[in-house]
Amino acid sequence: MKEKNLGVLASGRGSNLQSIMDSCAAGQIPARVAVVISDNSDAYALERARQAGISAIAVNMSDFPDKARYEQYIIKILQEHEVHLVCLAGYMRLVGSTLLDAFAGRIMNIHPALLPAFPGLHGQEQAWRYGVKYSGCTVHFVDGGMDTGPIILQAVVPVYDHDTSDTLAERILEQEHRIYPEAIRLYCEDKLIIDGRKVRIQT
Ligand code: GRF
Repeated sequence: MKEKNLGVLASGRGSNLQSIMDSCAAGQIPARVAVVISDNSDAYALERARQAGISAIAVNMSDFPDKARYEQYIIKILQEHEVHLVCLAGYMRLVGSTLLDAFAGRIMNIHPALLPAFPGLHGQEQAWRYGVKYSGCTVHFVDGGMDTGPIILQAVVPVYDHDTSDTLAERILEQEHRIYPEAIRLYCEDKLIIDGRKVRIQT
């Protein structure tokens, strides 16, 4: 199977990026991370990419007159790196129509809650405050909404009485690092079929 090129967009520490790079390097995904782009020049994700010898590019939105122009620039970078699939990994912005249209059905995100519950920021803390007994994480295709796109994979974790929001977040993160590379693998092996809101996994 021909290796696919991944473009990762990350705003922060990049632990999901790391799990994706590691899975590619270990041959678990028929893909390579071709480029990492961050809207935050201080993001540790950029450093992780550099350490792995992967092209790491900071793009500051305030350098552009509007979001469309910012996203056009990102698209140019993604195209230059012949990216097939865009993976959002802690990318702290809503994807606009410019980027969505250019990569329709080819943008994934990981969210730290069981969607459609607790979308938006701090999904782990929202779930913990609400008092749910189970939470988890969701990998989904990205559409124009906030964490609303078709769901690819989910993992469930228990919430214990002694949990804090942080201990719950750690338990969820372990699962993020498992299911995000898995979802990317399925995509790269052409096993995901988007059928309306449903994503069917071919076996
Ligand atoms: C993760 O919890 C992810 O689910 C959310 O943002 C966080 C990013 O963490 N979208 P990291 O930068 O991958 O460590």
